[in-house]
Amino acid sequence: MRTLDQLVDEGLAGRTVLVRSDLNVPLDGDRITDDGRIRASVPTIATLTAAGARVIVTAHLGRPDGKPSPEFSLEPVAARLGELLGRPVRLEQLGDGISGHTDGEVVLLDNIRFDPRETAKDDAERAGLARELAALTGENGAVVSDGFGVVHRKQASVYDVAHDLPAYAGRLVADEVAVLRRLTEDPDRPFVVVLGGSKVSDKLGVIEALLPKVDSLLVGGGMCFTFLAAQGHDVGASLLETDQIATCRTLLESGKIVLPSDVVVADEFAAHAAIRVVSADAVPDGWMGLDIGPASVRAFATVISGAASVFWNGPMGVFEMVPFAEGTRGVAQAIVGSDAFSVVGGGDSAAAVRLLGLPEDGFSHISTGGGASLEYLEGKQLPGLAVLDGSRS
Ligand code: 3PG
Repeated sequence: MRTLDQLVDEGLAGRTVLVRSDLNVPLDGDRITDDGRIRASVPTIATLTAAGARVIVTAHLGRPDGKPSPEFSLEPVAARLGELLGRPVRLEQLGDGISGHTDGEVVLLDNIRFDPRETAKDDAERAGLARELAALTGENGAVVSDGFGVVHRKQASVYDVAHDLPAYAGRLVADEVAVLRRLTEDPDRPFVVVLGGSKVSDKLGVIEALLPKVDSLLVGGGMCFTFLAAQGHDVGASLLETDQIATCRTLLESGKIVLPSDVVVADEFAAHAAIRVVSADAVPDGWMGLDIGPASVRAFATVISGAASVFWNGPMGVFEMVPFAEGTRGVAQAIVGSDAFSVVGGGDSAAAVRLLGLPEDGFSHISTGGGASLEYLEGKQLPGLAVLDGSRS
């Protein structure tokens, strides 16, 4: 994998560099509610502009279905990126071309998924878009892959374009890969993984891949109820994937999975619901578990405090609603308070860290890629990384 430093060493004055970033941030109208991914993309772009490159950033926002649509425009992102870089960022539409691009200037192409070829299954369609992107860089161009959150997608701007231009790993991609490699290849022990989120079916791949490597796997979130059902408990109206109960029973045989001993239950899925803390084997009929309880937080925190490496993905409860945020907060605080090498696996857990006001520097690394980091830990080949090893020179 060629690095950004190698590209800078080649000399960049007068050259145009295409950067694939992951700027897919949550928005409320046109207000960015979590700018973590934009901040994480700044070091690579700033390095390139400082070296005199003309930078074209390409990125996606949401899933606009191959059609331009104002609600999926990167306009608010261009403004925030400009603030963070301390220089204006010009937003351009792909078809309009880029005129008057000066050394050190940053142009952001609007949502690349406005073009249906970006996500096309057909290789030739994607290749056509990739060639158009590469052509924007003119003579002696290069592409820097820095959108770690999207490297698990075989898409034109992530994968195909690296066949048309010499490709380099950006700082973010290099950092993320180094961290995840450390966890998969040589984790300091005890290695504790904390998994939450709603569906166990989404996490089966990673659970199966990690179980042989971890010392303990702590399970919270909606997915814990399928495990509790696999132990023979009645889970009331909690989330339950009945087709996964048998698989969960087999996974429990590892002896490494730790489940909550108590849960916060509610009589409806609402912040104003009536709530109770009950033993995990005594969820009342008609009530649903929406968070892990205080005894579970203490037990999880004890395991975490003895860990040398921690990977956490997925909230422990419905943290967006105040009455069900304490499990996630408690576990996150335990990780912050531990001396372990700690990695937050993107997605909802990274959002929870910021939403709950936890100190970001309390973690060794907060990944920008939810799906990408899980697929990496599962041992899957990620197209956006694999292509960097085979890119043209
Ligand atoms: C993400 O949000 O996980 C990445 O930006 C990838 O987005 P996608 O799941 O829509 O491909």
